[in-house]
Amino acid sequence: MMHDWNVTRNHVVFMDLPLIFDMEALAKGGIPIHWSDDYGARLGVMPRNGSNKDVVWYEIEPCYVFHPMNSYEDGDKIVLDVARFKKMAFGPEDTGGTPSLLHRWVIDTKKRTVSDQPLDDRPADFPRVADSRIGLKHRFGYMTGLGGDIANQFGRELFKYDLESGKSEAWATNSGGGAASPCSCRRPRRGRGLRAHVRLRRRARRQRPRDHRRPQLRQGPGRAGAPAVRVPYGFHGS
Ligand SMILES: [Fe+2]
Repeated sequence: MMHDWNVTRNHVVFMDLPLIFDMEALAKGGIPIHWSDDYGARLGVMPRNGSNKDVVWYEIEPCYVFHPMNSYEDGDKIVLDVARFKKMAFGPEDTGGTPSLLHRWVIDTKKRTVSDQPLDDRPADFPRVADSRIGLKHRFGYMTGLGGDIANQFGRELFKYDLESGKSEAWATNSGGGAASPCSCRRPRRGRGLRAHVRLRRRARRQRPRDHRRPQLRQGPGRAGAPAVRVPYGFHGS
């Protein structure tokens, strides 16, 4: 099952990973998706104007990724930053699931290799970069922290990563509701925090977007305009 894919200036990269559809389970009325120990895992690189015959596949260690942060080309290499589960327990009989963590793959298209590099050990997902950096080299990335004792699928923290220095900072909501997916402001300030997020409560009448365009994430957000329409709980843009 492929939930999302990656785009760079000249390529797209598909993630063929071992959460699989199971038609027998569907016929029995169960959840038709589960982890497979036998399926394997691979990344497929295709030129943006290519077709099936142009895809080059790279075997990787089994894992699952719902949401990439961004990807870009660096000479003969393609860099992909993603929220990666070492094992994704999705189906009712799946066991041993692990949290998603920020992870970097580097595909060397000349040597035909892929390298792995964990970038953080804090559970997080819904990664984003500024929309203006999609497919291009990014310095800053943002994720929703998913650690701690949370009773819903969203977290209580936002993380900001400086992928050049290797440093990161965090901001906690310290209130009810979850920090949903960060999203890009229309006019981000160069080199500064540029995220907004919508605080979600399952039954709240009003939603409160927060604007993080301050130099440092830990300074906390300012108010942003109310969303034109209510964001359904569970929606995310990554
Ligand atoms: Fe998603």
